Amino acid sequence: MIPPLLKGKPLPRHIAIIMDGNGRWAKSRGLPRIFGHRAGTQSVREAVKVCGELGIEALTLYAFSTENWARPKAEVSALMGLLSKMLSTEVSELNKSGVRLMAVGRLHELPAKVRGELEKAIDKLKSNTGLILNLALNYGGRQEIADAVNKIIHLGIKKVDEKILSKYLYTADLPDPDLMIRTSGEMRISNFLLYQLAYAELYVTPTLWPDFRREHLYQAIASFQARERRFGGA
Ligand code: IPE
Ligand code: IPE
Ligand code: MG
Repeated sequence: MIPPLLKGKPLPRHIAIIMDGNGRWAKSRGLPRIFGHRAGTQSVREAVKVCGELGIEALTLYAFSTENWARPKAEVSALMGLLSKMLSTEVSELNKSGVRLMAVGRLHELPAKVRGELEKAIDKLKSNTGLILNLALNYGGRQEIADAVNKIIHLGIKKVDEKILSKYLYTADLPDPDLMIRTSGEMRISNFLLYQLAYAELYVTPTLWPDFRREHLYQAIASFQARERRFGGA
């Protein structure tokens, strides 16, 4: 299932994506922003499918940041509605593909409906052994680090090193992302996986998220494969 373009070199174990540009996609069509979010759901399906086919271990999707609450109320509630709808409608397809689901972020602050659908979906998919789909929901990298430190203090741990810190991050069970993709051209991290991206290869494409398809993902992975990762070595 590996296309010729990607043969011969190791694939990333963990891909993380900042799915950006939904608003601009809608605006360029004279549509309200929520239409862009809706259109983006097709790109989510495709990214999950392709990562599954390639045998990628984990895919983290940045779906809602801790800063996104600052958006107009109507957009936030439309996004939350879309999320809970996606969680309930996609679960059987995800199950067929063997996807396991997890979520990172301050999940307790999400609307009850979203939390409910999330818990149901995670539970339904919990014994699958294929791609780990990790949704970053109400996620902020700084908040995650603060939460980890508070857990560590609470446990009475007196000395912290990188290993301990990693263990108390939301992503404790995942390898660090090897490749971080951001769509729609912005050259910034926007509070995404600050700790985990330390040595990730970054790939920014001008393609807007709702236009992001299989070929774009292949291109991003091919670019990753052409990089020389040094991890500080010579
Ligand atoms: C990303 O698209 C989706 C979320 C942040 C939830 P945006 O809504 O940020 O789209 P732009 O950046 O305004 O185009
Ligand atoms: C990052 O995109 C958050 C998500 C994709 C969920 P934003 O559109 O919120 O980021 P900024 O505001 O451009 O930095
Ligand atoms: Mg944006």
